[in-house]
Amino acid sequence: MSSHPPGPPFWQLPGLLRKLAVDRLAMMRDAADLSDAVRVNMGPKKMYIFNRPDYAKHVLADNAANYHKGIGLVESRKVLGDGLLTSEGDLWKAQRRNVQPAFKPGRIAAQAGVVAEEAGRLLEQLRKGAGSGGTTVDVLHEVTGLTLGVLGRTLMDMSMDGHDGIAHAFEAVQDQAMFDMVTQGLVPTWVPFATQRNFRRARTELTVTVDALVADRSARMSDDDPAADAFSRMITAARKETDPALGRKRLQDELVTLLLAGHETTASTLGWTLLLLARNPHVRDLVREEARAVLAGGRLPEADDLHKLSYTMQVVQEAMRLYPPVWILPRIAQQADEVGGFPVPAKADVLVCPYTLHRHPDFWDDSERFDPSRFEPSQVASRPRYAYIPFGAGPRFCIGSNLGMMEAVFVTALLTRDLDMDVVAGHEGVAEPMMSLRMRGGLPMTIRPVD
Ligand code: HEM
Repeated sequence: MSSHPPGPPFWQLPGLLRKLAVDRLAMMRDAADLSDAVRVNMGPKKMYIFNRPDYAKHVLADNAANYHKGIGLVESRKVLGDGLLTSEGDLWKAQRRNVQPAFKPGRIAAQAGVVAEEAGRLLEQLRKGAGSGGTTVDVLHEVTGLTLGVLGRTLMDMSMDGHDGIAHAFEAVQDQAMFDMVTQGLVPTWVPFATQRNFRRARTELTVTVDALVADRSARMSDDDPAADAFSRMITAARKETDPALGRKRLQDELVTLLLAGHETTASTLGWTLLLLARNPHVRDLVREEARAVLAGGRLPEADDLHKLSYTMQVVQEAMRLYPPVWILPRIAQQADEVGGFPVPAKADVLVCPYTLHRHPDFWDDSERFDPSRFEPSQVASRPRYAYIPFGAGPRFCIGSNLGMMEAVFVTALLTRDLDMDVVAGHEGVAEPMMSLRMRGGLPMTIRPVD
């Protein structure tokens, strides 16, 4: 075996740990500048950061069985329990197999109608609010409501109206997960820090909301109901559990997980896309031109329009390159392994960081530049597949990628076709790396109908 990857010398460790607490993206950028493989040695704890497509492929796909979910995600178990994002082994396999049919491409096509309706509803609301003189709106808040609404209808056949508090609750959950990560889980939840207080409140709110959703949906189905939406599949599986309390707990975990994993990631994609379009008017004009041609006469999109909105799709892909909503993929090695020729001991923390991988100078020219042409088919074919992993890779690949992409493309096309959206000065979009890549302070934009 070869030698350890380079790492910061021990006297730089306090500065590095400070960055882990206050500026995690800077820490990842520093590591990427140092080397494609970095080892941070914190005594008994070892952390490895891998930043090359073939290293990512090894950890996430080729030897995925050796890598369980790691820091950040482990901490979020306080709320996500054993849902699909955090479960492992046979339980994960059974859960994935159970809900997978609800995400088949055929069903996603049928869900296009829901996505288009919700997008159309948001467009109308923004257009009315803007009148002819324009208005200022936190667009991130609006698209977060939209993505929750879409999840409610597509995964559960339920309306999320009246459950707006759930988005705030999820923010508090993420704050707590990051707090636990930085404090290594050494501070019990009852200690009265603001983060922990908010978390306890959020956990109660989530439990109450989820209980209400479960009761409402369960009442509308019978055991032999062949309904194929994700939630009904989960309810049927929970009813087969011999221990009813365990069945109920699993169902809660799975539902909270799907709602969390599915709404903020898609909202974040939309937020960053709309921000980048506001900053790049020439690209916005091209999106508008395409949307006017494909969705002519002010109509809503249909499933078939997705592949026709190919430039808009490239814009969304480029936004996810620069601002991957899931900016870090944390893992823990189960057994000793070797990545790119470097030894990795059992129990080591292993990080693959889409945020830095998507900026690697060997694969991306002038990587900070926003350039949707990078996703033209010929350019995509010339790059290693694992240089771009906004939906992860291997067996834990995002189950909702098709739904998330369709939402992002349809909403971007519709809003850009009919509205001029400009960022309010002073809100240029500072990335805040929580469990997902949030926008600090939201996204206030002035909105005017296009002439
Ligand atoms: C643009 C939007 C989205 C992005 C960028 C995204 C990204 C990701 C990524 C990177 C992972 C892998 C995490 C890891 O390996 O640790 C993941 C997993 C997951 N995502 Fe998404 N996601 C999006 C939308 C959605 C939607 C709409 C849903 C649900 C309806 C969803 C549900 C999930 C679930 C349940 C997992 C865990 C899958 C498993 O481990 O088997 N995601 N997502």
